[in-house]
Amino acid sequence: MSEKMAHTNSSLHVEISSLKLENPTMLAAGVLGVSGLAMNRVANAGAGAIITKSMGLEPRRGFPNPVVAQVQGGILNAMGLPNPGIRQLAEEIQKIERKTVPIIVSIYASTPEDFAAVACEAVKSGAAGVELNVSCPHAETGGAEIGQNPDLVEQVVKATVRNVNKPVFVKLTPEVTNISEVAKAAENAGAEAITAINTVKAMVIDVETAQPILGNKIGGLSGPAIKPIAVRCVYEIYEAVRIPIIGCGGIVTWKDAVEMMEAGASAIQVGTAIAIEGLGVFKRIAQGIQAFMEKKGFDGVKEIVGLSHKE
Ligand SMILES: Cc1cc2nc3c(=O)[nH]c(=O)nc-3n(C[C@H](O)[C@H](O)[C@H](O)COP(=O)(O)O)c2cc1C
Repeated sequence: MSEKMAHTNSSLHVEISSLKLENPTMLAAGVLGVSGLAMNRVANAGAGAIITKSMGLEPRRGFPNPVVAQVQGGILNAMGLPNPGIRQLAEEIQKIERKTVPIIVSIYASTPEDFAAVACEAVKSGAAGVELNVSCPHAETGGAEIGQNPDLVEQVVKATVRNVNKPVFVKLTPEVTNISEVAKAAENAGAEAITAINTVKAMVIDVETAQPILGNKIGGLSGPAIKPIAVRCVYEIYEAVRIPIIGCGGIVTWKDAVEMMEAGASAIQVGTAIAIEGLGVFKRIAQGIQAFMEKKGFDGVKEIVGLSHKE
């Protein structure tokens, strides 16, 4: 198949709420999604949608170095959500040439009112939708402690949905006893999609110095090591909600993507794999899904979604 076809093949099209994607791959939040130039490269590389770095109301510097450490099967990061503040975003979004690629702005805040305020700014900046990051494992405030509490999730989603007229996604942490309960709270409050999962709280120690390697000591694990956790979460959420699920965590190959879709994901996000595979990963995954569908005689991506739930 030619490279162009992977962009345009209509059987790869997916719709997440009102958003139309040319293929089910998305850039995961925080990985290359800050500068317009980097996002432009991701769009030109064939991503079906882009999630930006999580942005707050005000600029934030992030944690001291080192902020990333490599481990077996993945990486640990504790960036501390560094970002230039939501008001700087419009200029960056304008640099993206492929206007057919929806830009979903990931946002964080510590109160429902602030989530709504950041979301309004994001939409003013040209966001096609917003993804609420209520799941950062190393944020000082407004991270996983929101995503671990269904009532808080409901309040944050309600406040945001009331104030913006674009689709609202909610990104969940796997670090809860019952992820379905949190997903249902988000759905009941008006979320239009669930993204699962964010990174998993983890730590790495240098044995010689006996000190934690990351500046923040604790970080979030991503990459292939967390894929089975993500697949399990998507599977459980699929049984609990009717809104689309976007699978994220450890996806490197088209097979990983298909597995996530069989678990129940309508689309998938790729983060850490970009460091392993480069930006070609989006086209390779899309082409692999296409070839899989042809082999199975499927006419559209929808036919893969949730297959593992059928006997
Ligand atoms: C360096 C780095 C920065 C990240 N920053 C964010 C962020 O700003 N907001 C967010 O919601 N998730 C962030 N994440 C989490 C990813 O979006 C994704 O949920 C996680 O890495 C699992 O997917 P992966 O295994 O494909 O990387 C970050 C991940 C990495 C590796």
